[in-house]
Amino acid sequence: MTNNTKQLAQLKAAIEALEAQRSMLGDAVVDISVKGLQQQIIALDTPNNIVSQFLGERRQATILFSDLSNYTAMNEQIDPEKVQELMSQIKFEATKIVEHHEGTVNQFVGDAIIALFGIPHAHQDDPIRAVNAAMELHKFVREMSPAIEAYIGRPLTMHSGINTGLIVISVQDERDGKFNLTGDTVNTAARLVGQAKGDEIILSPQTQALIAPYFVTKSLGPVKMKGKAVPLIPYLILDKTKIETRLEAAEQRGFTPFIGREKELAALHDCLLSTIRGKGQFVTIRGVAGLGKSRLLYEFQHQLDRNKITVLQARCQAYGVSTPYLPFVDALRKELQLKEEDSPEQLHEKAVDHFKTMDPALDNFIPVLLHLLSIPSDNILCLTWSLENN
Ligand SMILES: Nc1ncnc2c1ncn2[C@@H]1O[C@H](COP(=O)(O)OP(=O)(O)OP(=O)(O)O)[C@@H](O)[C@H]1O
Ligand SMILES: [Mg+2]
Repeated sequence: MTNNTKQLAQLKAAIEALEAQRSMLGDAVVDISVKGLQQQIIALDTPNNIVSQFLGERRQATILFSDLSNYTAMNEQIDPEKVQELMSQIKFEATKIVEHHEGTVNQFVGDAIIALFGIPHAHQDDPIRAVNAAMELHKFVREMSPAIEAYIGRPLTMHSGINTGLIVISVQDERDGKFNLTGDTVNTAARLVGQAKGDEIILSPQTQALIAPYFVTKSLGPVKMKGKAVPLIPYLILDKTKIETRLEAAEQRGFTPFIGREKELAALHDCLLSTIRGKGQFVTIRGVAGLGKSRLLYEFQHQLDRNKITVLQARCQAYGVSTPYLPFVDALRKELQLKEEDSPEQLHEKAVDHFKTMDPALDNFIPVLLHLLSIPSDNILCLTWSLENN
């Protein structure tokens, strides 16, 4: 190690030590001390531009720690090759799930997975994404468990801890994880996962406050965490609520009385009238965030006579961009009452019966619609025919 790299490592360690004590020393003290150390790093001017890689950046993010329960038992009772195979399956699925929610798997440490939401790209709903990802990962391992249980005599489960706050990141050697993470937020997440029992997802109060309307949680009461002066109140995730959007959350809190927007509502009713007269309409509502697009749609829908008009609703999910026609397919699935547990035959029967009663003009399009809904069908020749003829 050259003199400069040694000094660099010492300065980096000093920054980490300061960040770890941020809650005790306070932001003002830590910020000014870290800044001084960073300036010393810049002055070092080591070769290969290593220096800039150690400069910490403070980011608001959500961190998910997921750990496999009963990993030791698994190692004792199953062939190492089999354990390795299972672990790579879990890691592969975890990466898929985290990336589906646009998070980053920072690293795998033994049987633990550390994922970040908000780094490198921030989203308005990062804490919600983290909880959804954890729930999906737990479900995957739960479903994997019965086959393993036969060997290890107990279920294989994940347990997770989630925290939200400032995280200091810097780029480092990839073998140590994508980003070097420091700060109290990271330490607390690690402590939370230690509190979680098999299949439990535990949140810090900071994360819970941000996801509250969207998930059912249970307070676990004050817990004294190692190295913390003040006890923390962790929350256990129980389930999702029915609330999916910010507007629904606002509705639950109680809407403000609806004012104005007469012109916009009248325009929507005009379009509906044209549709009823046989001239289908497609409307887009645009406006800056918070202007009232969702509320306008809500008020419009609530003015309709639901006995005469069917409303099908679907959402463009940020993480659904790679799925063609996702909102359309979602709306269709709801209308056809297709369930995940339905067999391919049931799906086929439900869909075809429904399309046939909806409108005879749809007959030629049934193969195309089945294809969109990913329902296996023998009508593939018919599909080519339909596409050529329509
Ligand atoms: N005309 C209105 N009268 C009273 N309150 C309104 C009106 N329009 C919107 N609001 C309220 O303002 C808040 C934001 O509105 P809304 O969620 O519809 O915005 P948005 O344009 O859909 O935002 P985003 O782009 O973030 O989805 C909501 O609480 C809603 O109830
Ligand atoms: Mg909206």
